[in-house]
Amino acid sequence: MGNTLIKISIWYFIIGVTLGLYMSMAHDYNLTGVHAHVNLLGWVSLAIAGIFYKLFPHLAETASAKVHFWLHNIGLPVMMGGLALAISGAGDLFLTFVAIGGVVTVLGIYIFGYNILKNLDQ
Ligand code: HEM
Repeated sequence: MGNTLIKISIWYFIIGVTLGLYMSMAHDYNLTGVHAHVNLLGWVSLAIAGIFYKLFPHLAETASAKVHFWLHNIGLPVMMGGLALAISGAGDLFLTFVAIGGVVTVLGIYIFGYNILKNLDQ
């Protein structure tokens, strides 16, 4: 699971910095919120989770790790896609995706935190 998370994080890094480069070149900062969250919740957070699992392999074997993996990797793209579409004027309906994706992602992160706090010392 560590390798998979690190590979996924690299895609978020590529997408995040490419969006930042576009924003800089176009002088269009509307998508700053998407850029910041793709970089921090996608690249930074998932890379750190992946490195944790490489450092402490027993943490990757738990049910909590699997639940976090799926909630984070489903919630974040739903949240980011919804935010990008809502900001781009596709309609306030997409704010619902931001809310649902955000809650799913946060629940996943709570479970990640539970896994680390409960199992790190074992
Ligand atoms: C070379 C790659 C990057 C480029 C070209 C870039 C570009 C930008 C631009 C143009 C903005 C908008 C600035 C503004 O609204 O005044 C921005 C904001 C931001 N970026 Fe990046 N960025 C890059 C990488 C990253 C990375 C790696 C992270 C985090 C790990 C990051 C996190 C943020 C955050 C948090 C903001 C919001 C700052 C604020 O609104 O105060 N960026 N970036």
